[in-house]
Formats: sequence, C-alpha cells, structure tokens
Amino acid sequence: MVRVGEDPASVSYVRSKSKVSEELGIYSETIVLADNTSEEALLTLIAKLNNDPQFHGILVQLPLPRHINTDKVLNAIKPEKDVDGFHPMNAGKLLNGEPLFIPCTPHGIQELLIRSGNSPEGKHVVICGRSNLVGKPLMAMLIQKRKGANATVTMCHTGTRNLASLTRQADILVVAMGRPKAITADMVKNGVVVIDVGVNRVPDKTRKSGFRLVGDTDFEAIERKAKAITPVPGGVGPMTVTMLMANVVKAAELWSVGSQKS
Ligand code: GUN
Repeated sequence: MVRVGEDPASVSYVRSKSKVSEELGIYSETIVLADNTSEEALLTLIAKLNNDPQFHGILVQLPLPRHINTDKVLNAIKPEKDVDGFHPMNAGKLLNGEPLFIPCTPHGIQELLIRSGNSPEGKHVVICGRSNLVGKPLMAMLIQKRKGANATVTMCHTGTRNLASLTRQADILVVAMGRPKAITADMVKNGVVVIDVGVNRVPDKTRKSGFRLVGDTDFEAIERKAKAITPVPGGVGPMTVTMLMANVVKAAELWSVGSQKS
C-alpha cells in the first residue's frame, strides 16, 4: 500500500487494511510518502513495485495530493496487480461483463445485498453519486445479465433534477454523495433497502477524538421506514476491506498460475 500525505481518513483506512491483512496472514507493507512527493517519484515507485515479485497487489490510497495526476498514477499500476480495480483496463473489463479485479466498495455492496437476502435481481436500484470508485463501477456490475445483478439502474448525480422523485422509486437505494443527511426519510419509500456509503466526520465534543462518523442518510428516521439500512461506521466499510483481501488472494492465485506457465 502506498499512502501519500497524512489525510486522517486515509491514515485510518490504510491502517485497517493493514490490520486485517495481518489477521488473515497476508503479508503487507505500507509505504508512506511525504505530501510534497513529486508525481515522477510516485510513478518510479509504482514501476518498481510492478516488477517486484514479493508483492502480488499494489494499492495507492486515494485521494492523492492535488499536484499529482490520479489517472496517470492509476494507469501506471500493472493491471494484474491492480487489487483496487481502478486501472482503465479493469474498469473496461467490468463494463464488458468480463471482470478481472472488481473495485472493492461496489463489490462489497453487491455481496451485502446478496447475503442479506436482498439480491438486486429485477429490482430498481437507484445510485446517488457517479464516482469512478463507487457509483460507476456499481452501475456496471448491476446492469449485467447475471446472478446477483440483472437490476434496473438509475444513476443520480449533481446534475439530476428532482432527486427525491427518483430516490422514492428505489427498491434499493445506494447513497455515495459525501454529505451528511443528504437523504432524508421523505425521500424513500416504505420497505426500501438502503446502502449508505458515506463517511463524514462531524464535530462531537463528547468524543475524545472531537468528531464522530456519520453516513449520507438520516439513519434514525429512515430506519423506521426501511426494510434494511447499513450503519456508518460498520456497514459498507468493513466489506470494502474484505473484498480487497479477496482481490489480493485472487492476484496471488493469478500470479501462481502465470508463473507455472512460464
Ligand atoms: N479511497 C477511498 N476509497 C478507496 C479505495 O477503495 N481504494 C483506494 N485506493 N483509495 C480509496
């Protein structure tokens, strides 16, 4: 894992990925670079890791500092080691219905839905947020004609007019907007299944840290109307880490098949 700078959320995410990999017996190293590291230095490091047989997977924690071109960095990771599934080749394969590495958060959301008895098959899934990390890959996954997918998907974003009229139609509502209480109880129908992807820090003097984490939905109010809703923290976050570990195992298996061939 490569982390550039000291963004507190990134520090926390990388720490939890490192902890879980250790618990599972997956060897990992975290390389921390200074906030002012050049794009060139980061690309040089990735080139080195691409060719290092000690590592089956490479993860560059996002967001990167503004002076670094994120697309250029994600493009530089060898697709066979791209355990985040963010390389354009992996994004394209996912859209075409022939996935190699699936991005961890949307993959975790799909598993949550299937394993909780809320398969998206035939359902109207409304996704709020069109990021390359969550919204777009989730849409690509759920429109596929396959088990655990085959949904009708509506993608809402900052250009969407009358958001509430669309969210009220959702059988399954996925919210990745990055804003506390962006979705309120009047915006959902009775019996909806809500996946809250938001992780927002709000000031809280009663906590030692001075903040607490909340999602993008009004959890307490929606809980009374919904069939199910994921909590923040403890809902989507741990699933993201779990699916990352699954991708690392897959990368190691791919490598061992490849090395036996050569
Ligand atoms: N930042 C927020 N989510 C993610 C993720 O899944 N992977 C990486 N690399 N960075 C992130």
